[in-house]
Parts: sequence; structure tokens; C-alpha cells
Amino acid sequence: MDFWVLSRFDDVFEGYGDWKTYTSTNGISLSEVGDALSMIQMDPPQQVALRNLVSRAFTLRRIAEMEPRIRHLTGELLEALHDVRECDIIERFAALLPSNVICTMLGIPVEDHEQLRLLTEQILHRDPGTLTPPATSVDAATRVIEYFGSHVATKRKQPENDLVSALCAAELEGRLLDDAEILGFCFLLLSGGNETTEKLIANTLYLLARHPDQRRQVIEDPSLLPGAIEESLRLISPTQYMVRTTTRDVEKHGCILEKGKKVVLLIGAANRDDRKYSEPDRFDIRREMDRHLAFGYGTHFCLGASLARLESRVALEEIHLRLPAYDIDESGIEMVHAGNVAGMARLPIRFTPTPSSRI
Ligand code: HEM
Repeated sequence: MDFWVLSRFDDVFEGYGDWKTYTSTNGISLSEVGDALSMIQMDPPQQVALRNLVSRAFTLRRIAEMEPRIRHLTGELLEALHDVRECDIIERFAALLPSNVICTMLGIPVEDHEQLRLLTEQILHRDPGTLTPPATSVDAATRVIEYFGSHVATKRKQPENDLVSALCAAELEGRLLDDAEILGFCFLLLSGGNETTEKLIANTLYLLARHPDQRRQVIEDPSLLPGAIEESLRLISPTQYMVRTTTRDVEKHGCILEKGKKVVLLIGAANRDDRKYSEPDRFDIRREMDRHLAFGYGTHFCLGASLARLESRVALEEIHLRLPAYDIDESGIEMVHAGNVAGMARLPIRFTPTPSSRI
């Protein structure tokens, strides 16, 4: 298929860090070419200028302020599982939380959250063995773009306290953003933030259920949870790769990656490189690591990393507080079929009531 793959930690790290050699401007997936819809397909300085317009909404402090709201929403979703002892925890919980949070940030009315979540899912779906998006994906993308078109028009007329209204007022090099630029942001935040965080929550539940010893430790000492989430991100990275294009010939391990070739920077493999991590396939919530590449690295480092970490921590804390005894039905697990997102599409879970269960 005419692309190179870098899979060692050091090479993948270098690839994300060196945008001058590995450009994003020719697309960041295997199927697309150029035609930037948003900053993720740009290089500095254009990417940085656009990113600066939204980065204030995603600082650690601003995200930390969202914790009470996220905890409340998590509580509501878990209350709805009252009396439900067995369910697909992705459908009933993990898929709903991230989508509600990002839609709220964008000022989207509650009644439209579910529709947008389902459309995003359809956009990312790929049939196995082909890079071409299926018609349902193209169709869903058109519908989301139409939806955001009218959403932006509404916010231009009636600005409120949300990110889209802020973008309508934001200036880039002395001019207001046009509709296409705002739409690019909406699309990027919705598609980048939903499925990935959903997978992170589900993967962490799965890993803790598979390692009851470590789960017990996390429940007894919730300060271990952030470490468990980082280990989950490393071991089952929701985004398995991003793509770049070389701007010059690069020599790697005796091969020449010719100028203009697509290069897959394989996060999933880098995060399990045994040159970097000892016993890389082992889940260890106390693992000491300086970094992993699940959120990328460098100029495009995931804008929503703090938000994803907060959502998953709150989700797991609340589940452990309310329903600490759960196990999974491995035979019912279904995997997602998407381009670069890996993880489960269905995770059947069974909760066993305990004296401390709060639901
Ligand atoms: C576990 C959850 C998440 C994972 C694994 C993840 C992964 C990534 C990765 C690997 C990149 C780098 C892309 C590249 O180098 O080309 C990235 C960028 C980005 N992510 Fe995330 N992400 C997650 C959650 C989120 C959330 C919750 C949001 C927002 C609400 C978000 C918004 C973005 C944006 C806007 C970018 C592009 C930044 C730029 O181009 O400067 N992500 N993400």
C-alpha cells in the first residue's frame, strides 16, 4: 500500500516531535490527501495560531473546574443503571459521558447529543480490509457538517457561554474566523474526543476486571487510579497511529524513507516497545514511566488529554464507589472497526451487589 511504518518508541517519538521532516499537511490518515479541514492537518505556524484560539478552554485549570459537572453527569448516568445488573457498559455509560461533555462545551442542546454521538460513530467506522470510507461514513459526515453549519449560524446570532460562541468572536490575524474554520474545530473536537475517551474508560474497566488484585488496590487507595489510567493508555492505546508525510529522504535502520512517502507512526507498538518498557505486555498500575505516546507528542500533542484523564478518572471513581464488584463476559466482547481507533465496541459487564453498592 506504499507507506512506511515506524514502530520503535524512539522513532515514533522523533516522528511526532519533528514536524519539519514529518508533515501533517498531506493528511493524517492513510486515505486522505491534503485539503486541511482543521489544525490537525496543518503544521506550525498556522496550526499553532489556530490552536491558541481554543487552548485556553483546555488548560489544566479550566478542565479541573469542570470536575463537579462531570461527576454529576457520571452520577446521573450510573443512577440510570439502577436495577440493571448486566449490560453493555459502553452503550449504557462509556459512550455517553465523553459525548455529553464535549457537546456541552460546544453549546449543543442536550436533545441533540445522542444524534451527534451516533453520527460520529458512523463517520469513524471503516470496513475491514479497505481504507475507503463506506457510504454511511460519508453520509454521516455530511449530516454533521450541515448540523454544525446551522449551529454556528445560531451562535453567531445568539452567543452564549460556550466554545462555539467564543470562536465566533475570536480573531485570527486581525479578522474573525469564517464558518469553515469554526466548523473544522467542531468536527475535530467531536471526532477526536468521543470514541477515544469512550475506549479509554472501557479499556480500563476491562483491564481492572482482568486483574482483580490490582482492582482491589485501586478501590482501597483511589490515588492509584491515575497510574492505572496511564497504564491503560499505554497498554491499549485508543489511537493506534497517526500518519505523516516525509518532506525529505530519511534514513532509518538501513532503509530510505523517500521524500513524499506516507509514514505511519505506530503509537500502539511504540507503547509496547521492550527497549523502552520492561515486560511491556504486562498491566502494572504501579509502573514507573516517564512518558507514553498515547496522546502523541510535540506540536499536535492531544489538546483534550487533561479532559480525557479527568473524565476517565471520575468515571472509574464513581463506578468503584457505587458498584465495586463487576466482572466481564469475555465471550460477548466486540471490537470496533475503525481507521486508527482500536478498542471495544461492546463490553458486557455484570455487577454483583455488595453491602457497599450504592445503586
Ligand atoms: C483517550 C482519549 C484520547 C486519545 C487517546 C487522544 C489521542 C490523540 C492523539 C494521538 C493526538 C495527536 C494527533 C497527531 O499528532 O496528529 C490527538 C490530538 C488531538 N486531540 Fe486527542 N485524544 C483523546 C481525547 C481527546 C479529547 C477528549 C479531545 C477534546 C475534547 C481531544 C482533542 C484533540 C485535538 C483537538 C487534537 C489536535 C491537536 C492539534 O492538532 O494541535 N482529544 N489526540
